[in-house]
Amino acid sequence: MPLTFHIETERLILREFRLEDDEALLALDSDPEVHRYLGNNTIHDIETIRRMILQVQVQYETNGIGRWIIIEKATNNVVGWTGLKYETLLFDQQNKYYDLGYRLLRKYWGKGFATESAIASLEYGFKKMQLDEISALAHIQNTDSNKVLRKVGMQLIKQFDVGTGPLYYYRITKDDWKTR
Ligand SMILES: CC(C)(COP(=O)(O)OP(=O)(O)OC[C@H]1O[C@@H](n2cnc3c(N)ncnc32)[C@H](O)[C@@H]1OP(=O)(O)O)[C@@H](O)C(=O)NCCC(=O)NCCS
Repeated sequence: MPLTFHIETERLILREFRLEDDEALLALDSDPEVHRYLGNNTIHDIETIRRMILQVQVQYETNGIGRWIIIEKATNNVVGWTGLKYETLLFDQQNKYYDLGYRLLRKYWGKGFATESAIASLEYGFKKMQLDEISALAHIQNTDSNKVLRKVGMQLIKQFDVGTGPLYYYRITKDDWKTR
């Protein structure tokens, strides 16, 4: 039985990844528009999606945290995912950090759901997990994502280039969060 989560915002429920989310996540990850600024690595087979769900469940056990599924309260439908991920890849001269991310089905863009769920993710990180800082990355041309990060109080730290293109690196500290 994997670790479970239940966080509520005004319009959304954030909960753990479950195998039953496979079809919704396939719809999300097979959409080229969704992957436009993510290196264009769309996924088209359900087995890869199921493996990914299991990997997220392992992260819950190992790290105590991982991305969450977003559910719209009004319909009970999967909207996409959000949340914090513990990263250990060498990056920006640190090798451990908590990354804020989100990925929504296209029909749910433009409703404020990414921002609403990102705020809840940060609140969980700072209040429940007592983190000192949380980071995020976005392709410099991913206007909507950069907007979300600024709206939730992230500070732009620098630009750097990786294989998927130029990225902006953002960070928010616990103090920034308290005074935002
Ligand atoms: C990045 C992504 C999550 C942004 O989603 P989004 O829906 O544009 O983001 P938000 O939740 O902030 O909603 C944006 C708009 O909803 C509108 N909106 C409508 N109803 C609203 C409401 N009730 N409350 C708040 N905003 C509302 C707002 O006007 C807002 O636009 P604004 O900031 O220009 O005012 C989405 O484009 C996506 O999933 N992209 C593909 C994956 C991806 O690139 N992920 C990020 C990788 S770094």
